[in-house]
Amino acid sequence: MIKTLALAAGLFAATFSAQAADIAAGKAKAEAQCAACHATNGDWNKPVDASYPKLAGQHKDYLAHVLRDYQSGARSNAIMAGMAAGLSKADIQNLSAYFASMKGDLYLKR
Ligand code: HEC
Repeated sequence: MIKTLALAAGLFAATFSAQAADIAAGKAKAEAQCAACHATNGDWNKPVDASYPKLAGQHKDYLAHVLRDYQSGARSNAIMAGMAAGLSKADIQNLSAYFASMKGDLYLKR
């Protein structure tokens, strides 16, 4: 299952390599900096606590937008302001692409 996902992510990254987002880089950063709250044992549909939103399968543009909002203060949250502060534009694109590439259970995909 994990191999299939990694392969799919790799194909996706290769197909869209002309674009900025790098899913593998997003995955590495997410596992290092975001998993402590937003995932349990690598499952991004299971945040460690109900106060931490699910990121799996959310729309890429939404995630990128909200991360920029945490940086600017347009969306105010003490924890996420700190988490977003150090992210570059590329980090935001890569992280958002990684989360959007997952199968999420928040909504039905068309
Ligand atoms: C210490 C725990 C913690 C860590 C680590 C953390 N977050 Fe969060 N995250 C939160 C909390 C709490 C919220 C809800 C904040 C709010 O209500 O705005 C949140 C919200 C979010 C949201 C908004 C989701 C939505 O549905 O609107 C995004 C996107 C997000 N985090 C991304 C990240 C990324 C990317 C990282 C790693 C760079 C990260 N988070 C690391 C605690 C954390």
